[in-house]
Amino acid sequence: MADSDSIQWNDTMLTGVDEMDVQHHILVDTLIDANARLTDDANDPLFEQITRDLLAYAIYHFDTEEQLMMRYGYAAKAPEEAERHLNQHRRFSDRVVAMRNEARAGKPGSREALLTFLRDWLINHILTTDKELGRFVLSATAKP
Ligand SMILES: [Fe+2]
Repeated sequence: MADSDSIQWNDTMLTGVDEMDVQHHILVDTLIDANARLTDDANDPLFEQITRDLLAYAIYHFDTEEQLMMRYGYAAKAPEEAERHLNQHRRFSDRVVAMRNEARAGKPGSREALLTFLRDWLINHILTTDKELGRFVLSATAKP
């Protein structure tokens, strides 16, 4: 299942907020590593472990971002953006849990679907929603 060309770290993903950028880099690297290590064997036990670890790290990372939102008053100052961002985090976790269940039940194509979803969601979320939060945090912490 070597499909590692499909994702790579790229500096356009930088938000400028170190705490977020370090974790994004880890998420992207973990996904590249997952694509490289997983085999086409539908019963590969690594799939269960790798997707569990990725989900756990993503949830930890969302918590980091949500703490930044609270620290700088994102919900009060940019309510629509904050709401949209939080909803994206919630929907991501629900979707990954559901897709892991499908893979566990042996639904054909479900493993590839989950890896594709993880890649597309992550890149898209970083490039739009997280960069928006990054700009907010940077302006909130800018020296006068
Ligand atoms: Fe986010």
